[in-house]
Amino acid sequence: MGKISDHIKEADWKSEKHVPAIECPDRVTAGEPFTVIVSVGKEIPHPNTTEHHIRWISLYFHPKGENQVYEVGHYEFNAHAESVKGANEGPVLTEPIIQTTLRIKGDGVLHAVELCNIHGLWQSTKEVAV
Ligand SMILES: [Fe+2]
Repeated sequence: MGKISDHIKEADWKSEKHVPAIECPDRVTAGEPFTVIVSVGKEIPHPNTTEHHIRWISLYFHPKGENQVYEVGHYEFNAHAESVKGANEGPVLTEPIIQTTLRIKGDGVLHAVELCNIHGLWQSTKEVAV
């Protein structure tokens, strides 16, 4: 039957436009805020059209040594130039990039997952040390 994780693809974000790029410091101070940016298409732009676009990004934090991940945020991109005039004629597009500010107490791994409406689920990870 399979699991949803069997269908989440991975690759290097520098060579595969669907993979979320997670940008933040490699090392942070416990309890101090730091900025995390997650984007899709950083090196190779992904299309952003009514027919083909990124729907959402979810970000999770997995604390080292725990068997649980914690959801940081779920970010939807809901405007893709839809319009009564027709596809791609609308006045607004949401770009698949988010920024958030976190504080962590110890080492862990950030996990990002994104959904392309026609190419499915893609993930990436980034370690953060304290
Ligand atoms: Fe795609």
